[in-house]
Amino acid sequence: MDKLIATGGKPLSGEIRISGAKNAALPLMISSLLTRETVMISNVPHLNDITTTMELLGQMGVGLQVDEKMSIQTDASTLNSAVAPYELVKTMRASILVLGPLVARYGHAEVSLPGGCAIGSRPVNLHLKGLEAMGTDIIFEGGYIKARAKRLKGTRIFMDMISVTGTENLMMAATLAKGTTVIENAAKEPEIVDLAESLNDMGARIEGAGTDQIVIDGVEELGGTAHRVIPDRIEAGTFLLAAMVSGGQIKLRDVRPQHMEAVLGKLSEAGAAVETGEDWISLKSPDGPIRPVGIRTSPYPGFPTDMQAQFVLLNTVADGMSTVVETVFENRFMHIHELRRMGANIELDGNTAVIQGVSRLNGAPVMATDLRASACLILAGLIAEGQTTIDRIYHIDRGYECIDEKLALIGARIKRIPGAYFASRSDEPVS
Ligand code: EPU
Repeated sequence: MDKLIATGGKPLSGEIRISGAKNAALPLMISSLLTRETVMISNVPHLNDITTTMELLGQMGVGLQVDEKMSIQTDASTLNSAVAPYELVKTMRASILVLGPLVARYGHAEVSLPGGCAIGSRPVNLHLKGLEAMGTDIIFEGGYIKARAKRLKGTRIFMDMISVTGTENLMMAATLAKGTTVIENAAKEPEIVDLAESLNDMGARIEGAGTDQIVIDGVEELGGTAHRVIPDRIEAGTFLLAAMVSGGQIKLRDVRPQHMEAVLGKLSEAGAAVETGEDWISLKSPDGPIRPVGIRTSPYPGFPTDMQAQFVLLNTVADGMSTVVETVFENRFMHIHELRRMGANIELDGNTAVIQGVSRLNGAPVMATDLRASACLILAGLIAEGQTTIDRIYHIDRGYECIDEKLALIGARIKRIPGAYFASRSDEPVS
């Protein structure tokens, strides 16, 4: 298993192109299950979660072609299996997104139940409840969700909690249902809007994506389309943080600033000079100390939970006291234990982190626990005194395209050490 070694102390400055959004690309690829025609998705990021999705679709018999620019063409006319096996679902929870499309188009699906994960228990009850309301029979057998339906029926669905993939799953299923489906208390993330736009290009009739009420008039069938994935607002936010905490200056290209208002607002509050254009953002870190900022995560357009770990780091090196409250996931503070080992002064009280800024961090060996925690620890290593070794970085390769190479482009001293180098050590986890 690879590790990263980061050496701190250099301001990170330069220009970076932001990749396509992982959390938009995954549902877009999976939406190709809804049609017999070809779907072409461009600006797909080169990530392990994308490879897992290709493997998942490929195992079901979907034809896949990828070109050198990561445009992926899918052909689900050859689908011959409606099973998402445990081996793939356990590595990527978003695999649950195949459930709605498979039931809607083929009338059955078997999807391994995702278990808990490093950031919380993450049940899928809302996905299942919505599909049941549309006429799906669901049983659990051998760790699998086994779903069957005749043609799904449109209905009114109230989501008890705002769920991103829950909304996506039900919206995809409803495109082929008989009649109208109304999803109330829907998630409003830009990734939902991107998916709805692509589905509408395929012939779906979806209105209201991006608001909390989505109305879907079911159609008989969907056709093909070509769609470009929106930029990754979390990758963009992470690079802005890299410049901010290291005292640097950065320009991001291929971004949508309007998707990042909560994050850009907090960076300005912390003292950054932020400028935006139609598809770019520039940030200059403050000349003086960083001001601490209060953070409370919530669904879009609130402050994204996927940027919480990075802002914990910002507050860790800010001048003063702050609180960070995580309201979306119950256990998304694992990075704090590692940051403390680097000298951070953070107290945890339930879902609240109380942070007293420190003037410097010290390099240490640390362990990544999930994707965004990994990003936080890498950035911490890049501002700490001395060397930080970040272990279990397979998490980061799931969701950040070539993060070490991109960071090196803005001056980071970062090195990837291939797993074999550490092969004699016995501390590697079984994932
Ligand atoms: N929830 C339920 N029941 C459900 C579904 C969700 O109780 O049936 C709860 C969850 O346990 C959580 C809350 O609702 O407490 C919100 O979860 P949500 O369903 O919105 O999360 P998700 O769809 O599983 C997506 C992203 C996550 C991101 C969250 C929140 C994808 C593939 N994943 O997850 O991304 O953190 O929305 O914005 O879109 C990441 O990229 O690092 C990542 C974890």
